[in-house]
Amino acid sequence: MENTLAVIGAGTMGAGIAQVVAMHGWQVRLIDVNASVLSSAITGLQKRFQRLVEKGKLSKEIGLQAFQRITAQDTITNLKDTRLAIEAIVENLDVKRKVFADLEAAVSSSTILASNTSSLSIAAIAKGAKHPERVVGMHFFNPAPLMPLVEIIAATTSNSQSVDDAYDIAKTWQKTPVRAKDTPGFIVNRVARGFYLEALRLLGEGVASVSEIDLVMRTHGQFRMGPFELMDLVGLDVNLAVSTSVYEQMDRHPRFAPHDIQKNLVDQAHLGRKTGRGFYCYDGDTPLPALHAERKSFDLSPLLRDAITVFTHKAGLSDAGSTEQYIFARILGAVINEAGLAFSADVASADDIDIAMQKGTNYPQGPLAWADRIGHRNVRGLLRSLQDHVTDARYEAADLFAQAQ
Ligand SMILES: NC(=O)c1ccc[n+]([C@@H]2O[C@H](COP(=O)([O-])OP(=O)(O)OC[C@H]3O[C@@H](n4cnc5c(N)ncnc54)[C@H](O)[C@@H]3O)[C@@H](O)[C@H]2O)c1
Repeated sequence: MENTLAVIGAGTMGAGIAQVVAMHGWQVRLIDVNASVLSSAITGLQKRFQRLVEKGKLSKEIGLQAFQRITAQDTITNLKDTRLAIEAIVENLDVKRKVFADLEAAVSSSTILASNTSSLSIAAIAKGAKHPERVVGMHFFNPAPLMPLVEIIAATTSNSQSVDDAYDIAKTWQKTPVRAKDTPGFIVNRVARGFYLEALRLLGEGVASVSEIDLVMRTHGQFRMGPFELMDLVGLDVNLAVSTSVYEQMDRHPRFAPHDIQKNLVDQAHLGRKTGRGFYCYDGDTPLPALHAERKSFDLSPLLRDAITVFTHKAGLSDAGSTEQYIFARILGAVINEAGLAFSADVASADDIDIAMQKGTNYPQGPLAWADRIGHRNVRGLLRSLQDHVTDARYEAADLFAQAQ
């Protein structure tokens, strides 16, 4: 019997997931309440398969077969033949719960039910389900056909069989699954907050401009994109919604506090590439910074200067000026500490945290491998001296570093 997947929601993520799965020989039932979204998803998928054929990535026959495996429907009914259903609809708890109730009525008793939510708790989505034990998270990354990572989320209510099956199925689609606990932001959307928010804080403090900060992270950190370029690509509104959601769910810890600079840009509808303006302006051939940096002088204690020198030296930075070292140390330090906090809170294994950051958001190295290279005591030294400069607890070191011998 052929494997069959139901995808609920034919938007950006649902259509991308349908493409991946159909290419791996599964039948796909693509479902959306909005008839025009559904028909443009089908047209879009046909074009995508044609393009893959034109580029020589698929033979004409395979491309056609993959496309023909996808069928569209506008109601959640008659899904008894599905092995798995993945929900990828609007990020709204009540609407998702209603979809899971409809799914339970439509699928068989052995179908696994997964949500692609980025920010809601899987246990909360499963609450009210007749069989919450078969509800798991399968968090894909955008664009789903290109990004290898899938975070497999086990809620406290999920049974291990459903979680293991979701993990194994993702592997058969040639994805890279990692396991994570049902906690705010899971792995990637939590650990990546440091990359964005620390960059925003540096900008707000007048340490450097948008393009200078991006350049430091690209050239010295080997990141494919700097934090501001990446926020512009993702969409400032989408990025802010994730920061706000994690902040609220983490009891408003100061290290997750969304930044006013970003809120103001969102209020002005400067959302990044999609609106032609965000941190950069996209009018001409080359993006130009759209924000004027109000530079201020800053004083660092000798202790902090020493800690930055050791941290950046061990991280392999050469020929960087002192401001560049400071920018790099603050951003990478925040990312590494968040990875350590996630590890110490048992969100995922160290390997899975590192794989997730490389495969879900293209980091050049896993943050915990980076911390090993720098030395946990040196990471702690940096965090402690940064902490001495602020009044809230934003740089409090993860146990992994605080307890390093
Ligand atoms: N876009 C991303 O980068 C991204 C990445 C990872 C996860 N996610 C998550 O994936 C989910 C979908 O995001 P998206 O960006 O694809 O959204 P989207 O707005 O592109 O698509 C959502 C689709 O769901 C449909 N829908 C709404 N209610 C429905 C219902 N009751 N039944 C059937 N269809 C319904 C809408 O008509 C729409 O077409 C969200 O939970 C989001 O958090 C998004």
